[in-house]
Amino acid sequence: MKNLLDGIEEVLLMGPGPSCVPPEVYKALSCKTLGHLDPYFIKIMDEIQILLQQLMNTRNRLTLPISGTGSAGMETCFVNLIEPNDPVLILTNGVFGMRMQEVAERLRAQVDNIDFEWGTPVIPRVVEEKVNEKDYKIIAVVHAETSTGVKNPIEALSKIVKKTNALFLVDTVTSLGGIEVKVDEWAMDAVYSGTQKCLSCPPGLSPVSFSDKAFTKITHRETKVPNWYLDMSLISQYWSGERARVYHHTAPINMLYALYQALLLIFEERLEKVYKRHEENHIRLKEGLEELGLEMYVEEGYRLPMLNAVKIPEGVDDLKVRSTLLKEHKIEIGGGLGPLAGKIWRIGLMGHGARSENVDRLLKALKTILHP
Ligand SMILES: Cc1ncc(COP(=O)(O)O)c(C=O)c1O
Repeated sequence: MKNLLDGIEEVLLMGPGPSCVPPEVYKALSCKTLGHLDPYFIKIMDEIQILLQQLMNTRNRLTLPISGTGSAGMETCFVNLIEPNDPVLILTNGVFGMRMQEVAERLRAQVDNIDFEWGTPVIPRVVEEKVNEKDYKIIAVVHAETSTGVKNPIEALSKIVKKTNALFLVDTVTSLGGIEVKVDEWAMDAVYSGTQKCLSCPPGLSPVSFSDKAFTKITHRETKVPNWYLDMSLISQYWSGERARVYHHTAPINMLYALYQALLLIFEERLEKVYKRHEENHIRLKEGLEELGLEMYVEEGYRLPMLNAVKIPEGVDDLKVRSTLLKEHKIEIGGGLGPLAGKIWRIGLMGHGARSENVDRLLKALKTILHP
């Protein structure tokens, strides 16, 4: 029988994720599967938690990977922290802020939203005025808005949220592993991420972290968490401490090996060096794009190093360029979403993929296509 897997060709993944997976992580995926309560596997789980705490700069005990992609992490944060009619404020400047709104609404929260123009950051002064209007239970924002390439000012926002009673809920799907995420210092109460961006793993896990304040909210809920699979009070009994681990669901063992290996690679390289590599390659890409006559979509100062939004020049066929890149050069980049479809390209420099040789290969291919 024909095996389609034999036909998979290597593609340089330079889109909004998934990103390139290093050989060590592929090797980790093929290690022998252990039982989910095997003592040796539990040692690996413990190490994953420690490494995630270090990466997130947190002492939160409730720091662990949820089985599922970044959206499962988003659902986990909201489903555990919202009770019906809770006032929730979402700061939106792209697709993933909108998705947070949708998730919170489905949980029957009273959702208020402040919309900022796509491609521009959330403005702390505007948020400061709004938070005085209501006693919000949650204020939520995306750190790295993958749909536009904007970095939101989390530190400044955290100072505003700190003056309220609200929990600060932050999406770090694209930021974690590529720029600093300081969960404790920035007083984040609930954070989620994803493995397929700057952590250089395949998609499938979503690291989350909850502060003690958030966990107290979970344990003092008036209503049960409406989603059994993502209920942190149950999941924490499988992931926590010295006592016997309680089976909740069968953990995706080999994906957890992959995450463990990917985290080791980040710390072996050293975190500061990893961030510097992202920044330097972002600048190399930006300069090369400008030489080709292309312009960045986001203003300097708010650009993400790992997600570069580039304006598509007038008269250039978006789809044709992207399909030529894929077919002839085996490089994938992303198109724009929603109102930005056809207007921008999204070029990822995420994790293992953020390397000068990849930047140069893409620039060379773009030059051949745009200026034949
Ligand atoms: C900022 C952000 N949040 C959430 C998600 C959703 O993650 P997933 O597609 O892994 O479910 C993504 C995916 O691209 C993202 O970029």
